[in-house]
Amino acid sequence: MDIGGTLIAGPATGPLKGNITVPGDKSMSHRSVMLASLSDGITEIRGFLPGDDNIATAQMFIDMGVKIEWLNDEKTALRVFGVGLHGLKKPANILDAGNAGTCVRLMTGVLAGQSFESSMTGDASLCKRPMKRVVTPVRKMGAVVDGKEGGDLLPITVSGGILTAIDHVSEVASAQVKSCVMLAALYADGVTTVKEPKPTRDHTERMLPLFGQPVDVADDGTISLNPTDKLTAPEQSVVIPADPSSACFFAVAASLVDGSDVTLNSIGINARRDGWRRVMHGMGADLSLSNESAVGEEPVADVRVRSGGLHGLNVDPNDVPDAIDEFPVIFAAASLADGEFVLEDAEELRVKESDRIAAMANALRAAGADMQERADGAVIQGLSSLKGDADVDAHGDHRIAMAMAVAAQRAEGEIRIHNAAAIATSFPNFVSLAQSIGMNVRWADESEASDV
Ligand code: S3P
Repeated sequence: MDIGGTLIAGPATGPLKGNITVPGDKSMSHRSVMLASLSDGITEIRGFLPGDDNIATAQMFIDMGVKIEWLNDEKTALRVFGVGLHGLKKPANILDAGNAGTCVRLMTGVLAGQSFESSMTGDASLCKRPMKRVVTPVRKMGAVVDGKEGGDLLPITVSGGILTAIDHVSEVASAQVKSCVMLAALYADGVTTVKEPKPTRDHTERMLPLFGQPVDVADDGTISLNPTDKLTAPEQSVVIPADPSSACFFAVAASLVDGSDVTLNSIGINARRDGWRRVMHGMGADLSLSNESAVGEEPVADVRVRSGGLHGLNVDPNDVPDAIDEFPVIFAAASLADGEFVLEDAEELRVKESDRIAAMANALRAAGADMQERADGAVIQGLSSLKGDADVDAHGDHRIAMAMAVAAQRAEGEIRIHNAAAIATSFPNFVSLAQSIGMNVRWADESEASDV
């Protein structure tokens, strides 16, 4: 896949130092604009992530008649003029999710509740990702969904209306599936329940009550949700905390580069997103928390990271969903840690924005690392440095590009990371923030951006 954009990264020229604030959480930014659009009243959102993925979600609602006012040039603050659960208009054109899996999967739940027919598509990567996981439950609820491969692949067309409540037992541990069913459940004729095989990020559960909709979570994790006539815009602004998945790149970089000391300000430490800290702690990273507080319904803290001798680890399978987006950069850490690192039970990595096990194995090996793929994970033998001087392919996957930029800090020669433009989907200012703590990374100009 050729999406362009080449990063030239590494090696670090000195310790990484600084105190930085990464942009708002991607998962929460999606949910905030969805719930605000579907509520009665005007919602102000602050700390919104202005990445392409979240802008795609906002654009879908604009395409269905919702007015959104941006309150600053950076697009981190916005006012959403909600139209109510039944106020969306049939879009004139196909809705485009771009690269955003969370957008298309959660929107399947929203569109299932609408009385009009609508279609969604995405970019080449998203058009290869499985949709059956959300299409099957909304079909069970009564929505009609057509699409390629029996509805497993985009583009899909959804016609909905009043839905039937279901008891959904998800086969995959996926917050996107859970949230899709929860959003559809608002339009159902009774109480819908959702059970997942392992707990996943719970931002939908935490955010719905801010819009007046209670969510019941039983001791065994089963979620029960009543249908409702309306969501109500909160009086207070919805504030989105900084994204731990973005912060993790700098945490790993600081762990890897000798003498580093970096503080990541006020990042989300919700247990369902905090698996990366448990894994890094298990690998011997020097991480400390301070200023623990809350932003809205979400716990946050400053995380200070000092460089330290990382070692290998057998990752606890229970930590996998809580660190699912961080494994590309954790693989980079493991490649430069002492001893063996083993990850199992993580086959979901193969159906992300790219096959993240294969993409990272190819890129890290090209840079000199020892990473072996397993069907559901990887085995990595750590080395003291990577050779570098390599061209690698990020496959249009933002997290592969950023993970390789981090790995490059401990390489002997630079790493040229191609098809890296997708960084804009989740972390538009990654390069400037990385440079601000001393990471050696920059965008190549055209003459340097040769093919992989
Ligand atoms: C997300 C859930 C996860 C994660 C994705 C965001 C969400 O996906 O990988 O980046 O916001 O619900 P899955 O639900 O496919 O695990």
